[in-house]
Amino acid sequence: MEKVSFTQMKDGTREEYEFLTAHEIDHTRHTADRLLTALVELDNSLSGYQITRLGHSVQSATRAWRDGADTDWVVSALLHDIGDIYAPYNHDEYAATILKPFVREQCTWCVQTHGDFQMLYYGHHLEGFDQHKRERHRGNPYFDDCAEFCERWDQASFDPDYDTLPLEFFREMVREVFARTPYDAAVIRKGDRVPLTDAVAAGGR
Ligand SMILES: [Fe+2]
Ligand SMILES: [Fe+2]
Repeated sequence: MEKVSFTQMKDGTREEYEFLTAHEIDHTRHTADRLLTALVELDNSLSGYQITRLGHSVQSATRAWRDGADTDWVVSALLHDIGDIYAPYNHDEYAATILKPFVREQCTWCVQTHGDFQMLYYGHHLEGFDQHKRERHRGNPYFDDCAEFCERWDQASFDPDYDTLPLEFFREMVREVFARTPYDAAVIRKGDRVPLTDAVAAGGR
């Protein structure tokens, strides 16, 4: 079978759906590489900064890596702004949706809310922005993690002179994350808080 014969889903046979499922599984194997390609497309977006969104993304991941952060954190830092391409008004939620089945709940939450937390750094300069929008998340167990994520990796990563690692450096980490069993409890680790920094790991990098 090269293609199914139905034109309406309700007419599909078991054989056809098994065929499509096999296709879908093969498709999901390449998610990591598709995401990295999309990240390169970020390079065309949001001019005006001293570095592109791709540069910002890779710089954020580089800082996370050099802080000794684990793979979940590094890949989350790398992809945290991937939503800028298609979802400029909720780019954080967009990125979190991509990451959610494959990284710790802690990381997903920080990516999902980083837009609100980032306002601390610029909200006071602009009309109609709430600089302290992050306060609506106060009390969440990951509040301090997101504050640190933004302070150390996100807001700090607009420096054209920083020694940023190449995107390729992160490819295998992204592949590893997206090859995980989606929504596996051992991956999501509900409620677990892993520090963003690890001095011992950082020392060996
Ligand atoms: Fe962002
Ligand atoms: Fe960012």
